[in-house]
Amino acid sequence: MKFSVASSVLICAVTGTYGFVTPFGVKTSNNFNRIGSTLEAVPKSESYSVTILEGDGIGPEISTATKKVLAALTKRCGFELELKPALIGGCAIDAANSPFPDESLAQCRSSDSVLLACIGGPKWDGNPRELRPESGLLKMRKEMGLFANLRPAKVMSQLVDASTLKREIVEGVDVMVVRELTGDVYFGAPKGIDTDPVTGERVGYNNMIYSESEVRRIAKVAGDVAMKRGKKLCSVDKANVLDVSQLWRDVTIDVMEKDYPEVDLSHMYVDNAAMQLIRWPKQFDTIVTGNIFGDILSDEASMLVGSLGMLPSASIGLEGPGVFEPIHGSAPDIAGQDVANPLAMILSAAMMLRYDLARPEEADILERAVEAVLDKGIRTADIKFDGDGCRLVGCVEMGDTVAEIVATV
Ligand code: IPM
Ligand code: MG
Repeated sequence: MKFSVASSVLICAVTGTYGFVTPFGVKTSNNFNRIGSTLEAVPKSESYSVTILEGDGIGPEISTATKKVLAALTKRCGFELELKPALIGGCAIDAANSPFPDESLAQCRSSDSVLLACIGGPKWDGNPRELRPESGLLKMRKEMGLFANLRPAKVMSQLVDASTLKREIVEGVDVMVVRELTGDVYFGAPKGIDTDPVTGERVGYNNMIYSESEVRRIAKVAGDVAMKRGKKLCSVDKANVLDVSQLWRDVTIDVMEKDYPEVDLSHMYVDNAAMQLIRWPKQFDTIVTGNIFGDILSDEASMLVGSLGMLPSASIGLEGPGVFEPIHGSAPDIAGQDVANPLAMILSAAMMLRYDLARPEEADILERAVEAVLDKGIRTADIKFDGDGCRLVGCVEMGDTVAEIVATV
């Protein structure tokens, strides 16, 4: 995992200049393995520089397991991955009084990609908002332009019985939630808590707002994703009530009609979508939705799979490095006990290899290794249940086993 400064500069230069930006996205001069034609990735290389943000809670444990697995992968496949640590979340607040210090941002920006574990914990929950770990995450997304968040929920056959839903409902489920990540009530102004001058009562408010260009660019990502999957896209909104959702719907229809005529587009109100995801999830292929609806629906979709501990995600923009992270939180209640499941972070590393580093075959190896570990009946506590005949292991052993298998699959 060593990597010279000179080649690091070269790769970053390539990352920054490859392709040209149009109002409708980035056209690359090569067809890389990101999502489709509109997004840029780093060209395939013999060495990469990746920032690793270990974060809080179980973050360091699952990062250690993931690093072992990546070391086994680079050894087997003959390329180099320099993993450079940086701070985000509670640990960054403690060390630098900022949940995402500018040095971390600069380092992430100049890396080929970013791998993030998880952030947060009760220690920082009472802090003012700007000194909460979550604010660091939001700053990172905004500053790095990571407007598209891909959250796959694919039920692995080995884990069907780990879901709280019936086997016939979840078996074969394969849904991709494309969540807009830098707009909506998360970032809209005005926002705040004020005192009403007339009643003297406090009033809290946020603004659910989307511009046409924001909707257009996420719709294009969703179109690209849907084209690579089942060519079926469900756009989720609340257009029966919200003006912002009406714009969302109108623009999505326009983008799909013009650029993705082959994609079968449908629309669903968010309350119905929440219900349908549980009632009959196999009706969905790709879902596109705004930031807050996507936050909620992607957590819901994750439970189809049985455990949050299995789900990776990718946050990407039009150019520059993406951020790849498990969708689970920092689980402070189990931190330091060697019981966390590192598989979501390992699968996030696979997404990084596929979408950012132009290494789809290596991504396949990691995914196959995870499947093979499950086939062997090895389980962390979150995916183990009584009478399944499987062997319970901790985070370290799970990581070691995946690393061993990576050398052979
Ligand atoms: C997520 C998380 C974050 C979000 C929090 C931690 C700010 O729930 O990534 O889904 O709301 O986006
Ligand atoms: Mg969430």
